[in-house]
Amino acid sequence: MAEPIYYTTPIYYVNAEPHLGHTYTTVVADTLVRWWRQRGRDALFLTGTDEHGDKIAQVAAKAGETPKAYADRISASFRSTWDAIGLRYGWFERTTDPGHVAFVQQVLARIHAKGEIYFGSYTGLYCTGCERFYQERELVDGKCPDHKTAPVEIAEENYFFRMSAYQDRLIALFEREPERIQPDGYRREVLALLREPIGDLCISRPKSRLAWGIDLPFDDRYVTYVWFDALLTYVSGLQAHGLNRPELWQHAHHLIAKDIVKPHAIFWPAMLMAAELPLYRALHVHGYWQMNADKMSKSLGNVVRPLEMQARYGMDAFRYYLLREMAFGQDAEFSETALVTRLNADLANGLGNLASRVLAMQQRYFQGAVQPRAPEGDDVALHEAFVLARRELEQHVPQMAFHRGLEAVWRALDHANKYVTDTAPFTLAKDPAMRPRVGAILHELCEVLRTTAQLTAPFLPETATRLVRLLGLDDAVLAELDRPWGTAFAPGHRTAPPEALFPRVEPPA
Ligand code: MSP
Repeated sequence: MAEPIYYTTPIYYVNAEPHLGHTYTTVVADTLVRWWRQRGRDALFLTGTDEHGDKIAQVAAKAGETPKAYADRISASFRSTWDAIGLRYGWFERTTDPGHVAFVQQVLARIHAKGEIYFGSYTGLYCTGCERFYQERELVDGKCPDHKTAPVEIAEENYFFRMSAYQDRLIALFEREPERIQPDGYRREVLALLREPIGDLCISRPKSRLAWGIDLPFDDRYVTYVWFDALLTYVSGLQAHGLNRPELWQHAHHLIAKDIVKPHAIFWPAMLMAAELPLYRALHVHGYWQMNADKMSKSLGNVVRPLEMQARYGMDAFRYYLLREMAFGQDAEFSETALVTRLNADLANGLGNLASRVLAMQQRYFQGAVQPRAPEGDDVALHEAFVLARRELEQHVPQMAFHRGLEAVWRALDHANKYVTDTAPFTLAKDPAMRPRVGAILHELCEVLRTTAQLTAPFLPETATRLVRLLGLDDAVLAELDRPWGTAFAPGHRTAPPEALFPRVEPPA
């Protein structure tokens, strides 16, 4: 039995509604989970919301709500958005869940009892947008590089986690086990950070300044620093579902963007070491979606909403664009025009049109009845194109190269479209003597559609299901990846009349 695999997205802040950036990471997790399940592997998926801290307290106050009421509202909006766009998260965890709160306190108490937390004073430059202190040298023109606002100087007494004590172990870990941070460029960045002293981590906030957080179990004048709270969701989430088994937790793969590498690559493993919990398996870091080369984010106001994209183009088209356009690890430019171009070229023309033509000919010439026959001539190369696509897909997806995997499938689809032109069944059909060959060609093309549905199912789940149903097959076929070519259609099997899978769309004005 293959090992289970456990994916997490970041636990999103509830200071704004879900946008493109959140959607991308969550779509990637959803795709990977579907991918592994299709291959018979047990795949778990956790997402959720990060609800404590200054940032949330401030937006709630601005909205005239209590932090909890505000968090309830936005958290529900994340959840309902993921539901509406069909993302099959297994668990949706909130940092305000009582089980999570209890777990954070338990871990803090354990680390404190070990002498790994001490009391001291601190002065630093704090950005409330980022919820963290900045070093002078990290600022750009004295401002936070993300929020473009000047951080404020704060001096206070706080609790500190002896993170520096773990510095050497972290260096050894990331040097010895490079697969822990992928792509490798981010691992090298982390190792570069680890060449400087990392210092200790301030893990408390005095209630005199901020009351919205989890009480420190050993001093109720303080609440817990939001990162120390949120990261633990990855483990408390498993526990909440009775799955707090180390053998599962060790298979955790965290999907994050490059903005939160440091807390995940430095704070988090040090916390796990201190708490004597196993380490996560790997961090997978992707780049930013940018619009006009600036980071797309709620604080800068240029947002793309997933529900709008779904309403305008359909969720599968939006998923396809996200997965096909971004090379995981690098930044990508979001453009609705580029989305429409891909939709029209790859989905409407490349796939939708092929499906319509095949199903229409199957109706017209054989009333939908598939005519299975042994392949001949061009048929062999057509089959091989899909064998190759499958092989490439299996190589690329576990490496997070979704764009390469999809490219490989669309190369095979190009081959299939060319096969239709070359074999010209619509011309052959005019000659009654050629009817058996027309039947054979259409049979090969039904196999193309069946295989395409299977290969694309993790990426385009709605389309894959529609396609197998149009082919008159059972949904269960989607999991039968290894079914040999030529065995899906029994004699007498009937396909349905065509439907437009992807109507062409006009580019945005
Ligand atoms: N609450 C923290 C995470 C705690 S995890 C224990 C947080 N939340 S966030 O709401 O700001 O989400 C950040 C994440 O959202 C990024 O790491 C990424 O997954 C996603 N994205 C937000 N904007 C993005 C882009 N413009 N592009 C791609 N993804 C980005 O940080």
